[in-house]
Amino acid sequence: MKKDIGFLRGKKQQHQPITVLTCYDYPTACLQDDAGIDIVFVGDSVGTNILGYKSETEVTMADMRHHLKAVRRGVTDAYLLVDMPYAADCDVKQAVTNAKFFLADGADGVKLEGGIEKIPIVKALAEQGIETCAHIGHNPQIHGSKAATHGKTFAKAKRLIKAAEALADAGAKLIVLEKITEEVSQIITETVDIPTIGIGAGRYCDGQVLVINDVLGIGPLFKHAKRYQDYDHLTFEAILQYVNEVENGDFPTDDNVVHIAPNKLARVQKWLESERRNI
Ligand code: KIV
Repeated sequence: MKKDIGFLRGKKQQHQPITVLTCYDYPTACLQDDAGIDIVFVGDSVGTNILGYKSETEVTMADMRHHLKAVRRGVTDAYLLVDMPYAADCDVKQAVTNAKFFLADGADGVKLEGGIEKIPIVKALAEQGIETCAHIGHNPQIHGSKAATHGKTFAKAKRLIKAAEALADAGAKLIVLEKITEEVSQIITETVDIPTIGIGAGRYCDGQVLVINDVLGIGPLFKHAKRYQDYDHLTFEAILQYVNEVENGDFPTDDNVVHIAPNKLARVQKWLESERRNI
């Protein structure tokens, strides 16, 4: 069953947690969809996690569209969300144009980092029938990779709650809460009627998102994340074993090769001999 915004809202209303993972490639998209993930999310974290960039700000529309199209081919049921990269929504016109590119590539919705300054864009996209996911708290495109927790003071908590309300009123269909104190995330979740998706935002959001690399154990471990696999170790071990086996002559074995029929081989050898005699 194709999951849409109505389905995700229903989960919020029934207090059923919404599951979200970032995804950057086709095989992982197939696995996430088969596992029943609600939202497959092509995040601009593709830049630092896959492309070797130093910062999310280096990610381009071309990068995002390339990965979105690969992920689209692997997703059947999940809601497919894509990140608007840095400087691709500098004004309303540019944001609408780029969001339309994403929809043409198969996205169901577009995520925008930023607070109330994104309201005109959220409104314009809503008017065009384009579903948006807001993203407040820590915004890697704006704050960089050093993530401090937001919502620790009265003034900052109030600003976050107001921003979430205003973005929901402007037409955002989902909102990511990143690195926000658990209490403030809970208040936002209870205040807005759109689903909240937390990352480092505690236990009471409507859903949780993690970066797939963190779940698989690729790269460093962060406090907000949990490793469900030690992929770095498993991959390194597999590569080492391959190198050793090739160097020792243990790979390939007879199981890995295809033979020519003996009578045909004999013909090849006979022909070769006659060729050599004629030189
Ligand atoms: O790009 C990304 O991975 C994100 C998540 C942190 C929500 O925006």
